[in-house]
This record gives sequence, C-alpha cells and structure tokens, in this order.
Amino acid sequence: MSDARKVPGHLAIIMDGNGRWASRLGRPRWMGHVRGAHTVKEVVSHCVRAGVQHLTLYAFSSDNWKRPREEVGFLFDLFASHLDRQVDALVRNRIRLSIFGRRDRLPAELVQAFAMAEARTAGGTRMHLRVAVDYSSRAAIEQAFAQRFTERTAAHEFGAGGPHGGEILPPVDLLLRTGGERRLSDFLLWESAYAELAFLDVNFPDLTSEHLDQVFADFASRDRRFGGIKEMQKV
Ligand code: IPE
Ligand code: IPE
Ligand code: MG
Repeated sequence: MSDARKVPGHLAIIMDGNGRWASRLGRPRWMGHVRGAHTVKEVVSHCVRAGVQHLTLYAFSSDNWKRPREEVGFLFDLFASHLDRQVDALVRNRIRLSIFGRRDRLPAELVQAFAMAEARTAGGTRMHLRVAVDYSSRAAIEQAFAQRFTERTAAHEFGAGGPHGGEILPPVDLLLRTGGERRLSDFLLWESAYAELAFLDVNFPDLTSEHLDQVFADFASRDRRFGGIKEMQKV
C-alpha cells in the first residue's frame, strides 16, 4: 500500500509498449491495445487509492495518425467502448474525466461520447483524470501563442476551449513512460518543466500496482530543488 505523502500530486503516463507486448506473444497489435485498456482501469483505481490528485494519460498522439487506418480505427472503437463501460464507475468513484487534444479530426460519435462522459463526471472531486487524444504538445504551445499574439488561429480546430479544453494543466510532478523508450514523444513539454522522470522497461499491459508503488517510492526519495538549494545547507 502506498504512503499518501510519497505520492505525486500530478502523475502523467506515456502508456507505451502495447504493440510489442502483443508481438512478443505472437499476437496482433490490437490485442495489446485491449490489454492496455484493461491496465488503464487498474492504474486509475490504484492512483485513486494512493491519493493521486491529477492523473494524465497519453492515449493517442497527433503523430499516431501515421499508423495504418485499421489500427487507428480500432483504437477509436476501443476508446468509445471502454468509456461506455467505465463511465458509471468513474461517477461512483467521484473521478472527473476530461479529454484534451484536437477534436476536429476524430469521428463525430467519439467526440459525442467524450462530451457525454465529461458532462456526467463533471462533479468528480476525488481525482481529475485527463486523457490526451490527438494531442501534440508542440501544437498546443503553438496554438496558445497564436491565440495570445495574433488572434488569427482557427479556434474551432480545437473546440471552444483551446487545445487543453479551456484549462491549464497543473505542472507535472512525475512523468512515467512504460515500454522501455526514454523519450517524451511530444507529451506535456511545457507542463513537465520540473517533472521528475521515470522510465520502466515494462510494456504498458504488464504494468502493475507494484510497479507504480516502486515508482512512487523512487519519486519520494528524490530531492526536488526547483532551482533552489536545500534549506539546511551552508552557503
Ligand atoms: C502505446 O503502445 C499505445 C499507443 C501509442 C496508441 P504502442 O502501440 O505504441 O506500442 P509499441 O510501442 O508499438 O509497442
Ligand atoms: C507515444 O507513443 C504516444 C502514446 C503513448 C499515445 P508512441 O509509440 O507513439 O511514440 P514513439 O513513436 O515511440 O516516439
Ligand atoms: Mg509505441
């Protein structure tokens, strides 16, 4: 069981390695995504229990459009069916769900399902779960600049509230990437300015509560100075 004092306030996860999980077992990639969706449920439950306030998950990057149409379509169907099954549990557990990223390129039914789930969970105060879909951090920053300085940006591209759905994400305390790669792949570049980084050589479908607790314990042991020095040190 995790110690609430050791837990990051804002945990962001790059959920990577679904395809490799499946390939290693000689299975098609989509099976890895199905298992990954199951893992999302476990991760959300564990983070709520542990006392994480903000959990942000990278589900589909704007660069993931480069993948075969069948895989992209499968992922969108999976998001819709997963949402449909999970939204009651989110409401019961007082978890607020927000989806951020571009919406103008997504299937209309999926956009509708997102809006419905966001409305139903809007009162959740125990944890704020955010899921990035068709998200690019560079595009979000460019968009914010364009809005601020030129006001020439087509706001409709991102929906009424801009790339983050009208809100500024809190700073990331801990950024975790599964799947063994050590890169950010255009995720929360601005918000991760002082994030602690954790990389696990575990494919996302194999991620367990125990792994998360290990990552939290490691996070708790780090000395976050934010550019300052330790209080007790002599100058
Ligand atoms: C992460 O797993 C899920 C998405 C990017 C949608 P991948 O699909 O990237 O799996 P690998 O990295 O190819 O194993
Ligand atoms: C990042 O993973 C995106 C998500 C996890 C949704 P990718 O698998 O797309 O990233 P790269 O291609 O390895 O950088
Ligand atoms: Mg990947």
